[in-house]
Amino acid sequence: MTVTSSPRQLKLALFGLGRLGAIRARILASQQPLIDFIAACDTKPGAAEWAVANLPPSVRFYDDPEDCMRHSGAEAILISTATATHAPLICLGLDLGLHVMCEKPIAVDVLTTQEVVQKAKSNPQLKFLVPFTRRYDDSYRAAKLLAEKGSLGEVHAVETHCIDKQDPTGNNLFLVISGGIFVDMGIHDIDVGRYFLDVKSGLTNPKRQVNRVVAMGQQVVYGDLAEYGDADNGWGLVEFANGKIMTTHLGRTTTNGYEAGTRVHGTKGHALIGANSTINRVEIRDQYGVRNASAPDAFSLYDKTFINDLDEFARAVLYDAPMSCTPEDAFEAAKIVIALQHSFRTGQPVYFSEDGLPLLETTKANGETNGTANGLVTYTANESANGGHSTGLKAI
Ligand SMILES: NC(=O)c1ccc[n+]([C@@H]2O[C@H](COP(=O)([O-])OP(=O)(O)OC[C@H]3O[C@@H](n4cnc5c(N)ncnc54)[C@H](O)[C@@H]3O)[C@@H](O)[C@H]2O)c1
Repeated sequence: MTVTSSPRQLKLALFGLGRLGAIRARILASQQPLIDFIAACDTKPGAAEWAVANLPPSVRFYDDPEDCMRHSGAEAILISTATATHAPLICLGLDLGLHVMCEKPIAVDVLTTQEVVQKAKSNPQLKFLVPFTRRYDDSYRAAKLLAEKGSLGEVHAVETHCIDKQDPTGNNLFLVISGGIFVDMGIHDIDVGRYFLDVKSGLTNPKRQVNRVVAMGQQVVYGDLAEYGDADNGWGLVEFANGKIMTTHLGRTTTNGYEAGTRVHGTKGHALIGANSTINRVEIRDQYGVRNASAPDAFSLYDKTFINDLDEFARAVLYDAPMSCTPEDAFEAAKIVIALQHSFRTGQPVYFSEDGLPLLETTKANGETNGTANGLVTYTANESANGGHSTGLKAI
């Protein structure tokens, strides 16, 4: 008789039970055989009641993150909290000897991102993963295989788009605290460009993967975003140091649903991924013509990816298996999106230094400069080159 022992499970605590955290909780409770979901933590009022009603009774709830990290018995944590809390929670977790998976982005400025990535790198015994959704999607993986096999010839350019549905309440200002459209939404798209464009090859200086970026944007539905140096539609152009180029269109204003897609241009062919972001393959033919139902949001279009990335993280911790995204991927994508947000706000291109950092200083008409390499720039009224719409940028 063969006795099969069940595999060891990774003891994990989840931080954040908001929009994505609730999805993560459901997946952890029922779709992760390699993970023992032992604890959840959220600091908002009412979270304990939500946890009792929605989580398995074996999951212990904490309202204090440090208490949860120190006393729940977790070996690993998944951080799905608000963006501003990522860096301190990651650092605390690493300091306490925990493996860390954290939703993008690590932070909304370059220096904090750099410090966190360095801390993760200096603890190589601890796994650290910032999962970029598209790398866990079957279609992106299939296109990547085509590119790697050479079926597309030399892949020289990537175009992406990612457009959310309008919020009927008209209230999108909460997005401002997430760093702006390029940082918050664009980081996935920029990562897609880096994924396909072999950005580390053909470099004369390996520290510098990007030459320059430029961004433009509009506020066509959410006019108030101008006040915060943000856009509801943004276009970014990135020239990598190996000569490859990517463009991205980011938006928050479709009326049908969420749309996202990528075109990978090669010298022998190109691949188009997800241009028609439908929720399924059903085609409706009626008095309106031929149509499909749109995916309502990114969570439904990329639902499987939130299972795949957690499974990969568990295998990395338990079996030292490889991961699809490195700390360097998180840092490189962050530098580009922070540079794009800055370019949009200032109306100027951003160049990258020989050290590979975006040069974020801006020169005013009177010759003075403001801003720092940190990407935290304070504007006063009428300083922005954003079509003259901006009236002042609050600290974000
Ligand atoms: N595809 C993706 O990779 C993807 C998709 C959506 C969101 N995100 C990221 O996931 C994160 C969460 O997004 P969301 O839409 O679920 O946000 P949300 O605002 O709905 O939820 C955040 C939750 O975190 C809790 N929280 C805040 N600070 C905390 C702390 N210190 N400890 C414990 N809990 C805390 C809040 O109370 C809230 O319940 C964001 O950083 C976002 O950028 C990633």
